[in-house]
Amino acid sequence: MTIRMERRGAAAIVTIDRPDQRNALSRETVLELGRAGKELGADDSVRVVVLTGAGDKAFCAGADLKERVAMSDDDVREMLSLYASELAWLEGSPFPVVAALNGAALGGGLELALTCDLRVAAAHAVLGLPETSLGIIPAAGGTQRLPRIVGYAKALELVLLGTRLDANQALGIGLVNRVTPAGASVVDDALAWISPIALGAPIAQRQALAAVRAAREKPLREGLELERRAYDACLTSEDRREALRAFTEKRKPIFRGR
Ligand code: COA
Repeated sequence: MTIRMERRGAAAIVTIDRPDQRNALSRETVLELGRAGKELGADDSVRVVVLTGAGDKAFCAGADLKERVAMSDDDVREMLSLYASELAWLEGSPFPVVAALNGAALGGGLELALTCDLRVAAAHAVLGLPETSLGIIPAAGGTQRLPRIVGYAKALELVLLGTRLDANQALGIGLVNRVTPAGASVVDDALAWISPIALGAPIAQRQALAAVRAAREKPLREGLELERRAYDACLTSEDRREALRAFTEKRKPIFRGR
């Protein structure tokens, strides 16, 4: 196996476990990530997923360039299709996925992190899309997802110049949500940061996640209609009535996901 999975309460941690290869994405790793997504998607008790890499050098160094050397053009095309099919769960899952960047996130490694909903970076992490310096372009979604996250001009700068950012520069442009204090574990820090999600109302969180995700691709009118439908799913929930009761009784609500 090139990935590991672990549960901590309502959170699942998925770790790419190829530290000697700086957690580069081999074909096998991409397929294993796809299988992990199916397993997690079928488990209602999972409220958040943290995706990280083993060791402290790299979250993921991108495509496995050693494997790539022996690939035909068609093999590479197939790999790109595999990225799209096997990693789609990262942005279509019923739970938010947080990338915990324990080190370098370069090329396909940053693209993997861009597919996640949120990003937390270790203080020593470096981020960049060096593809054009390798005679290619980011093609695991980077050219489309990066501008949606940091805006057009910054994205173009990162793609055309292949600029490498440190964690604080990435925080400054909104590429990561949070930088973990030096010396602390980025996974523990990410878990502590997202812990309110595990205590929140499950239906509201699923609907909020789906509605905000939709803003990345839907025109405003369609997004607003989707938002109304998502609200409606919360309106009729027992959890909403419980929150109102708890408010009047001056206590914390107990959410049951119904
Ligand atoms: N694919 C396959 N193997 C990789 C790899 C990749 N993308 N990136 C690193 N490795 C391997 C190295 O070949 C080396 O293997 P070896 O011990 O058999 O020689 C090992 O990982 C350690 O690499 P090294 O560069 O010494 O590690 P580092 O900790 O000093 O630096 C990185 C880590 C991630 C900053 C650096 O490896 C790097 O820049 N990698 C290339 C990233 C890249 O350009 N990806 C874009 C692909 S489109």
